[in-house]
Amino acid sequence: MDNRPIGFFDSGLGGLTCISPLMKALPKERIIYFGDTARTPYGSKAPSTIRMFSAQIADFLVQSNVKMIVIACNTVSATCLNELRVRFPGLPIIGIIQPAAQAVAESCGKGNRIGIIGTKVTIKSRAYENLIHELNPELSIHAISCPTFVPLIEEGIIENEIMDLSIQYYLDHFIKYHKIDTLILGCTHYPLIRDNIEKLYPQLRIINPSKEIVKSIRKELESRDLLAEEPDCENTFYASDLSENFVNMINRIFEISEFRVAFKNFDLDTYK
Ligand code: DGL
Repeated sequence: MDNRPIGFFDSGLGGLTCISPLMKALPKERIIYFGDTARTPYGSKAPSTIRMFSAQIADFLVQSNVKMIVIACNTVSATCLNELRVRFPGLPIIGIIQPAAQAVAESCGKGNRIGIIGTKVTIKSRAYENLIHELNPELSIHAISCPTFVPLIEEGIIENEIMDLSIQYYLDHFIKYHKIDTLILGCTHYPLIRDNIEKLYPQLRIINPSKEIVKSIRKELESRDLLAEEPDCENTFYASDLSENFVNMINRIFEISEFRVAFKNFDLDTYK
Protein backbone atom coordinates (compact mmCIF):
# COMPACT_ATOMS: atom_id res chain seq x y z
CA MET A 1 0.00 0.00 0.00
CA ASP A 2 1.29 3.47 -0.85
CA ASN A 3 -0.84 6.62 -0.55
CA ARG A 4 1.57 8.93 -2.35
CA PRO A 5 0.38 10.47 -5.64
CA ILE A 6 1.19 9.28 -9.15
CA GLY A 7 3.05 11.84 -11.29
CA PHE A 8 1.77 12.44 -14.83
CA PHE A 9 3.27 14.73 -17.41
CA ASP A 10 2.74 15.91 -20.95
CA SER A 11 3.81 18.82 -23.12
CA GLY A 12 0.46 20.46 -22.36
CA LEU A 13 -3.07 19.43 -21.68
CA GLY A 14 -3.13 16.23 -23.78
CA GLY A 15 -2.09 14.01 -20.88
CA LEU A 16 -5.25 15.03 -19.08
CA THR A 17 -7.08 12.54 -21.30
CA CYS A 18 -5.49 9.75 -19.21
CA ILE A 19 -6.80 11.13 -15.93
CA SER A 20 -10.56 10.46 -16.20
CA PRO A 21 -10.06 6.79 -17.15
CA LEU A 22 -7.57 6.46 -14.27
CA MET A 23 -9.95 8.05 -11.78
CA LYS A 24 -12.74 5.71 -12.87
CA ALA A 25 -10.58 2.60 -12.65
CA LEU A 26 -8.64 3.54 -9.50
CA PRO A 27 -10.66 6.16 -7.58
CA LYS A 28 -8.42 6.06 -4.50
CA GLU A 29 -5.36 7.21 -6.41
CA ARG A 30 -4.30 10.86 -6.36
CA ILE A 31 -2.25 12.54 -9.03
CA ILE A 32 0.19 15.35 -9.63
CA TYR A 33 -0.08 16.47 -13.23
CA PHE A 34 2.45 18.64 -15.00
CA GLY A 35 1.59 20.22 -18.36
CA ASP A 36 4.48 22.07 -19.98
CA THR A 37 2.11 24.62 -21.50
CA ALA A 38 4.83 27.28 -21.77
CA ARG A 39 6.85 25.11 -24.16
CA THR A 40 4.20 23.09 -25.99
CA PRO A 41 4.19 21.60 -28.60
CA TYR A 42 7.00 19.07 -28.24
CA GLY A 43 6.09 17.09 -31.33
CA SER A 44 8.10 19.17 -33.79
CA LYS A 45 11.11 19.82 -31.52
CA ALA A 46 14.55 18.20 -31.63
CA PRO A 47 14.87 14.99 -29.57
CA SER A 48 17.67 16.60 -27.50
CA THR A 49 15.30 19.41 -26.46
CA ILE A 50 12.54 16.94 -25.59
CA ARG A 51 15.02 14.96 -23.47
CA MET A 52 16.09 18.06 -21.57
CA PHE A 53 12.51 19.24 -20.89
CA SER A 54 11.40 15.75 -19.85
CA ALA A 55 14.30 15.30 -17.43
CA GLN A 56 13.46 18.66 -15.78
CA ILE A 57 9.83 17.70 -15.32
CA ALA A 58 10.63 14.19 -14.09
CA ASP A 59 13.08 15.71 -11.54
CA PHE A 60 10.30 18.00 -10.35
CA LEU A 61 7.85 15.10 -9.98
CA VAL A 62 10.40 13.01 -8.10
CA GLN A 63 11.05 15.96 -5.75
CA SER A 64 7.28 16.06 -5.24
CA ASN A 65 7.51 12.53 -3.83
CA VAL A 66 5.48 10.64 -6.43
CA LYS A 67 5.38 6.83 -6.25
CA MET A 68 5.32 6.37 -10.02
CA ILE A 69 5.73 8.48 -13.16
CA VAL A 70 3.36 8.12 -16.09
CA ILE A 71 4.59 9.66 -19.32
CA ALA A 72 1.23 10.79 -20.65
CA CYS A 73 2.85 11.88 -23.89
CA ASN A 74 3.62 9.74 -26.93
CA THR A 75 6.33 12.11 -28.11
CA VAL A 76 8.27 11.85 -24.84
CA SER A 77 7.64 8.09 -24.60
CA ALA A 78 9.01 7.64 -28.12
CA THR A 79 12.05 9.82 -27.38
CA CYS A 80 13.34 9.11 -23.88
CA LEU A 81 11.39 6.53 -21.86
CA ASN A 82 14.50 4.41 -21.32
CA GLU A 83 16.68 7.37 -20.39
CA LEU A 84 14.20 8.42 -17.72
CA ARG A 85 14.17 4.87 -16.36
CA VAL A 86 17.96 4.97 -16.13
CA ARG A 87 17.82 8.39 -14.43
CA PHE A 88 15.50 7.07 -11.70
CA PRO A 89 16.32 3.42 -11.11
CA GLY A 90 13.78 1.74 -8.86
CA LEU A 91 10.98 4.20 -9.65
CA PRO A 92 8.26 2.72 -11.87
CA ILE A 93 8.01 4.79 -15.07
CA ILE A 94 5.31 3.91 -17.58
CA GLY A 95 5.24 5.07 -21.19
CA ILE A 96 2.06 5.30 -23.23
CA ILE A 97 3.14 3.52 -26.41
CA GLN A 98 3.71 -0.02 -25.11
CA PRO A 99 0.19 -0.53 -23.64
CA ALA A 100 -1.49 0.69 -26.84
CA ALA A 101 0.82 -1.35 -29.07
CA GLN A 102 -0.04 -4.41 -27.03
CA ALA A 103 -3.80 -3.77 -27.32
CA VAL A 104 -3.46 -3.47 -31.10
CA ALA A 105 -1.23 -6.51 -31.46
CA GLU A 106 -3.65 -8.61 -29.42
CA SER A 107 -6.90 -7.42 -30.98
CA CYS A 108 -5.97 -7.07 -34.67
CA GLY A 109 -5.22 -9.70 -37.28
CA LYS A 110 -3.73 -10.05 -40.74
CA GLY A 111 -6.90 -8.69 -42.38
CA ASN A 112 -6.80 -5.39 -40.50
CA ARG A 113 -5.25 -2.22 -41.87
CA ILE A 114 -3.89 -0.13 -39.04
CA GLY A 115 -3.27 3.60 -39.15
CA ILE A 116 -1.27 5.60 -36.62
CA ILE A 117 -1.58 9.36 -36.26
CA GLY A 118 0.80 11.33 -34.08
CA THR A 119 3.30 14.15 -33.89
CA LYS A 120 6.25 14.39 -36.27
CA VAL A 121 8.64 13.09 -33.62
CA THR A 122 6.45 10.12 -32.69
CA ILE A 123 5.86 9.10 -36.30
CA LYS A 124 9.51 9.54 -37.26
CA SER A 125 10.61 7.35 -34.34
CA ARG A 126 8.54 4.40 -35.66
CA ALA A 127 8.08 3.44 -32.00
CA TYR A 128 4.53 2.15 -32.57
CA GLU A 129 5.39 0.12 -35.66
CA ASN A 130 8.44 -1.43 -34.00
CA LEU A 131 6.58 -2.46 -30.86
CA ILE A 132 3.50 -3.74 -32.69
CA HIS A 133 5.61 -5.72 -35.15
CA GLU A 134 7.63 -7.26 -32.31
CA LEU A 135 4.37 -8.57 -30.90
CA ASN A 136 2.59 -9.36 -34.16
CA PRO A 137 4.78 -9.22 -37.30
CA GLU A 138 1.86 -9.91 -39.65
CA LEU A 139 0.04 -6.63 -39.13
CA SER A 140 -0.12 -4.03 -41.86
CA ILE A 141 0.63 -0.58 -40.41
CA HIS A 142 0.73 2.92 -41.90
CA ALA A 143 1.52 6.18 -40.13
CA ILE A 144 1.10 9.90 -40.70
CA SER A 145 2.00 12.96 -38.63
CA CYS A 146 -0.64 15.65 -38.17
CA PRO A 147 1.28 18.68 -36.85
CA THR A 148 -1.59 21.19 -36.81
CA PHE A 149 -3.78 19.18 -34.43
CA VAL A 150 -1.97 19.95 -31.15
CA PRO A 151 -1.76 23.75 -31.54
CA LEU A 152 -5.46 23.88 -32.47
CA ILE A 153 -6.44 21.71 -29.49
CA GLU A 154 -4.26 23.74 -27.09
CA GLU A 155 -6.19 26.79 -28.35
CA GLY A 156 -9.49 25.05 -27.68
CA ILE A 157 -10.39 25.05 -31.40
CA ILE A 158 -12.20 21.72 -31.42
CA GLU A 159 -15.91 21.71 -32.30
CA ASN A 160 -15.10 23.82 -35.26
CA GLU A 161 -14.87 23.76 -39.04
CA ILE A 162 -11.16 24.63 -38.90
CA MET A 163 -10.46 21.46 -36.92
CA ASP A 164 -12.60 19.35 -39.25
CA LEU A 165 -10.81 20.74 -42.30
CA SER A 166 -7.45 20.08 -40.70
CA ILE A 167 -8.44 16.46 -39.97
CA GLN A 168 -9.64 15.99 -43.54
CA TYR A 169 -6.46 17.54 -44.91
CA TYR A 170 -4.33 14.82 -43.30
CA LEU A 171 -6.70 11.87 -43.14
CA ASP A 172 -8.96 11.83 -46.21
CA HIS A 173 -6.31 10.51 -48.57
CA PHE A 174 -4.44 8.52 -45.91
CA ILE A 175 -7.49 6.51 -44.85
CA LYS A 176 -8.77 5.96 -48.36
CA TYR A 177 -5.43 5.12 -49.97
CA HIS A 178 -4.30 2.66 -47.29
CA LYS A 179 -7.85 1.37 -46.65
CA ILE A 180 -7.37 1.98 -42.92
CA ASP A 181 -9.94 0.28 -40.65
CA THR A 182 -8.27 0.74 -37.24
CA LEU A 183 -6.84 4.10 -36.15
CA ILE A 184 -4.48 4.61 -33.20
CA LEU A 185 -4.71 8.07 -31.61
CA GLY A 186 -0.93 8.25 -31.14
CA CYS A 187 -0.92 11.57 -29.32
CA THR A 188 -2.64 12.16 -25.98
CA HIS A 189 -4.22 15.35 -27.31
CA TYR A 190 -6.16 13.45 -29.97
CA PRO A 191 -8.87 11.86 -27.79
CA LEU A 192 -10.12 15.45 -27.52
CA ILE A 193 -10.93 15.36 -31.25
CA ARG A 194 -12.17 11.78 -31.28
CA ASP A 195 -15.77 12.94 -31.88
CA ASN A 196 -14.64 14.95 -34.93
CA ILE A 197 -12.78 11.93 -36.33
CA GLU A 198 -15.70 9.57 -35.68
CA LYS A 199 -18.12 11.98 -37.33
CA LEU A 200 -15.93 12.18 -40.46
CA TYR A 201 -14.96 8.48 -40.60
CA PRO A 202 -17.66 6.49 -38.77
CA GLN A 203 -16.36 3.19 -40.16
CA LEU A 204 -13.09 3.35 -38.19
CA ARG A 205 -12.32 1.42 -35.04
CA ILE A 206 -10.46 3.85 -32.78
CA ILE A 207 -7.72 2.79 -30.35
CA ASN A 208 -7.25 5.27 -27.52
CA PRO A 209 -3.87 4.85 -25.75
CA SER A 210 -5.02 7.17 -22.93
CA LYS A 211 -7.41 4.37 -21.89
CA GLU A 212 -5.07 1.48 -22.60
CA ILE A 213 -2.36 2.89 -20.31
CA VAL A 214 -4.63 2.63 -17.27
CA LYS A 215 -4.43 -1.19 -17.40
CA SER A 216 -0.63 -0.99 -17.23
CA ILE A 217 -0.74 1.48 -14.36
CA ARG A 218 -3.02 -0.82 -12.36
CA LYS A 219 -0.87 -3.86 -13.11
CA GLU A 220 2.34 -2.10 -12.07
CA LEU A 221 0.83 -0.70 -8.86
CA GLU A 222 -0.59 -4.11 -7.96
CA SER A 223 2.60 -6.01 -8.66
CA ARG A 224 4.66 -3.59 -6.53
CA ASP A 225 2.03 -3.33 -3.79
CA LEU A 226 1.69 0.40 -4.39
CA LEU A 227 -2.10 0.82 -4.60
CA ALA A 228 -3.45 3.67 -2.48
CA GLU A 229 -5.93 2.98 0.28
CA GLU A 230 -6.49 6.29 2.02
CA PRO A 231 -5.31 9.19 -0.10
CA ASP A 232 -4.08 12.07 2.03
CA CYS A 233 -3.51 14.71 -0.64
CA GLU A 234 -5.56 16.36 -3.37
CA ASN A 235 -5.10 16.15 -7.12
CA THR A 236 -2.82 18.94 -8.22
CA PHE A 237 -2.41 20.27 -11.74
CA TYR A 238 0.74 22.22 -12.44
CA ALA A 239 1.38 24.11 -15.64
CA SER A 240 4.51 25.95 -16.68
CA ASP A 241 2.11 28.60 -18.01
CA LEU A 242 -1.11 28.50 -16.06
CA SER A 243 -3.21 30.05 -18.78
CA GLU A 244 -6.95 30.54 -18.85
CA ASN A 245 -7.00 27.95 -21.61
CA PHE A 246 -5.41 25.25 -19.45
CA VAL A 247 -7.90 25.83 -16.62
CA ASN A 248 -10.83 25.98 -19.08
CA MET A 249 -9.77 22.73 -20.70
CA ILE A 250 -9.44 21.02 -17.32
CA ASN A 251 -12.95 22.18 -16.47
CA ARG A 252 -14.16 20.94 -19.81
CA ILE A 253 -12.45 17.54 -19.70
CA PHE A 254 -13.48 16.68 -16.16
CA GLU A 255 -16.59 17.18 -14.20
CA ILE A 256 -14.63 19.10 -11.68
CA SER A 257 -16.95 18.05 -8.85
CA GLU A 258 -15.67 14.50 -9.48
CA PHE A 259 -12.65 15.14 -7.30
CA ARG A 260 -10.76 17.77 -5.39
CA VAL A 261 -8.37 19.74 -7.49
CA ALA A 262 -5.79 22.49 -7.08
CA PHE A 263 -4.13 24.50 -9.84
CA LYS A 264 -0.58 25.78 -9.54
CA ASN A 265 1.75 27.68 -11.75
CA PHE A 266 5.28 26.36 -11.86
CA ASP A 267 8.22 28.05 -13.47
CA LEU A 268 10.71 25.36 -14.47
CA ASP A 269 13.48 27.93 -14.84
CA THR A 270 13.49 28.42 -11.10
CA TYR A 271 14.11 24.72 -10.70
CA LYS A 272 17.73 24.15 -11.54
N1 DGL B 1 0.46 15.07 -26.29
C1 DGL B 1 1.71 14.78 -26.79
C2 DGL B 1 1.84 13.40 -27.40
O1 DGL B 1 1.18 12.50 -26.96
C3 DGL B 1 2.55 15.79 -27.49
C4 DGL B 1 1.96 16.87 -28.26
C5 DGL B 1 2.98 17.92 -28.63
O2 DGL B 1 3.43 18.61 -27.73
O3 DGL B 1 3.34 18.03 -29.80
O4 DGL B 1 2.63 13.19 -28.28
